Amino acid sequence: MRRSTLQCLLFVVSLGMIAPAAFAKVTETDFGKTKDGVEAKVFEVTNKNGMKVRLMNRGATLIGVDVPDRDGKLADVVFGFDDIAGYESKANSYFGCTTGRYANRIAKGKFTLDGKEYKLFTNDGPNHLHGGNGESLDKVVWDGMPFDKDGVSGVEFTYTSPDGQEGYPGKQEMRVTFTLNDKNELKIDYSAKSDKPTVLNLTNHAYFNLGGAGSPTINDHVLKLNADKYTPVDDTLITTGELAPVEGTPLDFRTPTAIGKRVDQLTKTSALGYDHNFVLNRDGAAEGELVEAAKLVDPKSGRTLTVITDQPGIQFYGGNFLTGNKGKGGKPYAYRSACALETQVFPDSPNKQGVEGWTDCVLRPGDEYTHTCVYAFGVEK
Ligand code: BGC
Repeated sequence: MRRSTLQCLLFVVSLGMIAPAAFAKVTETDFGKTKDGVEAKVFEVTNKNGMKVRLMNRGATLIGVDVPDRDGKLADVVFGFDDIAGYESKANSYFGCTTGRYANRIAKGKFTLDGKEYKLFTNDGPNHLHGGNGESLDKVVWDGMPFDKDGVSGVEFTYTSPDGQEGYPGKQEMRVTFTLNDKNELKIDYSAKSDKPTVLNLTNHAYFNLGGAGSPTINDHVLKLNADKYTPVDDTLITTGELAPVEGTPLDFRTPTAIGKRVDQLTKTSALGYDHNFVLNRDGAAEGELVEAAKLVDPKSGRTLTVITDQPGIQFYGGNFLTGNKGKGGKPYAYRSACALETQVFPDSPNKQGVEGWTDCVLRPGDEYTHTCVYAFGVEK
């Protein structure tokens, strides 16, 4: 059921309540038409603190997150564009999208499942990246349904990916639900079912700068990653199959460290900086249990972002491919001026089934894929 803001407010007033739900609201506005003539929509979710989250149906994309700094001043901390044309342009490097069917890289754009080889589009040198070409999940238009219940509000996006889309087997029914609560936590729940055995890895690809999108650097942000190990990559950024210790490398973020402190030690590697998957310490947590994966702090504004997930890995990408293209408000998105923290299974899992310590990415009919990621915002004094 779709409700306007006014209807939501009237509903709450009619119950005579001043409960958290009184503040929760979702509005829906038009965002123009895609190149294919489909209506793009933006849903804005506001909580009682005035935090706002904006979501678009194309790509089930997180296009805006307004959060307070230590003085209560709001800034939009994620990269994006002011119009649909920006999202459809080459300047869009997966900003805020739901990424898949397989987020991250698959070596040489192929994999074998149950003895059959599947070929995918190679859009990243010799490899397949983020689900492929024109019909990867970031580029298709999802159905969006706003909700406002039990003191939380959000949007549920659904999409059916046909059998063979972008070369992936199986018709897949997918759901991505974004929920904002009054603790400034944005929860993303993914689920999927397939009618044939397939591989998948969904994530969100938001680029964060807690000083506000368009601030000049991410190198002044302090990062903590709950990971003793990472997955090294070869010259084409494909994981080698090793799980290597972070100890003694610039990838050791077990104690909070400024991103810029050691990044130059990686500039001449194939990753060009930070662009690695970390093996999250789950410390005996059960499957499906949420653990803290990362914490990002902007010492200047005081804004913090804690990433909590049930996934085994997180890709920390430090914006090495950003080149200054203009985004929201005409601000340039400069080299290393944002980072993505993408919760997921390990890269190239379709070609690493059976490798010790590696993650499973196969979804079979009758089973359900689920994944939860929470972006919890806060402030430090
Ligand atoms: C990858 C980067 C890539 C970026 C944008 C990240 O998830 O790790 O290598 O450049 O996405 O496509």
